[in-house]
Amino acid sequence: MPIVGTLQSRETGTGALNRIGPMLSLQEIHKRFGARVLLSGLDLDVADGELIAIVGESGAGKSTLLNLIAGLDSVDAGRIVLAGQDLGELDDEQRTRLRRSHIGFVFQAFHVLPHLTVAQNVLLPLVLLGVQAEQPDVAAARVAAMLAAVDLGHRAQAATSELSGGELQRVALARALVHKPRLVLADEPTGNLDPDSARAALDLLAAAARREGAAGIIVTHSPPAAAACDRTLRLAHGRLLDSRLVAS
Ligand SMILES: Nc1ncnc2c1ncn2[C@@H]1O[C@H](COP(=O)(O)OP(=O)(O)O)[C@@H](O)[C@H]1O
Ligand SMILES: [Mg+2]
Repeated sequence: MPIVGTLQSRETGTGALNRIGPMLSLQEIHKRFGARVLLSGLDLDVADGELIAIVGESGAGKSTLLNLIAGLDSVDAGRIVLAGQDLGELDDEQRTRLRRSHIGFVFQAFHVLPHLTVAQNVLLPLVLLGVQAEQPDVAAARVAAMLAAVDLGHRAQAATSELSGGELQRVALARALVHKPRLVLADEPTGNLDPDSARAALDLLAAAARREGAAGIIVTHSPPAAAACDRTLRLAHGRLLDSRLVAS
């Protein structure tokens, strides 16, 4: 199945994959670095369109968890099933393709590429998916729409070295959503934003989830950010617990 077809089918809302079960399912995940046990028997199900906030102390393993879901790191034990596909049964290339087509990742450190302009950074996922090569007009329209959505239309041709931290974060957000991923992973996406920009960024994430049926997992320390999500889970002692049941 061509990846471009996946993107088109999302446009029409028909859905290329017939899935049974949740969008994302984590089952009995274990992960340690040396003697440091980070995740131990962690379970999580995320439905289409569901927005989840994950909170937890620094060093609890939140970024590690997002990396595992994105297939950027591998579990020691347990299963991660994304869009019906068990990451552990895929080879590196298949995992990379699944990540590119299904996941949008807002990294904690942005990972905006300094030698590309703002627009080129946002276009990147569509280049990797072949959309730019096969449907350049579609790609250009998506980039323009995303830049407008994060209020960076006037900075499209700017070098990213000219941007403020808040602007870089918005570039990262636009890039994570430009290909209409089924799952958005955001690692403290409002950490560098003023309250208004933070609200706009959250609205954008929520809109992606609610309007386009994407699921989202947002790691955050911000109470307003967590409040904008459907549920808040606390990562502690290697597991995710309903934050309402846990004293912080
Ligand atoms: N690749 C790695 N190798 C060794 N230790 C790591 C690695 N990645 C993260 N860690 C350690 O795991 C712990 C949790 O890191 P992280 O997932 O970044 O936590 P959080 O995002 O919750 O602050 C930290 O102590 C960190 O130093
Ligand atoms: Mg982190």
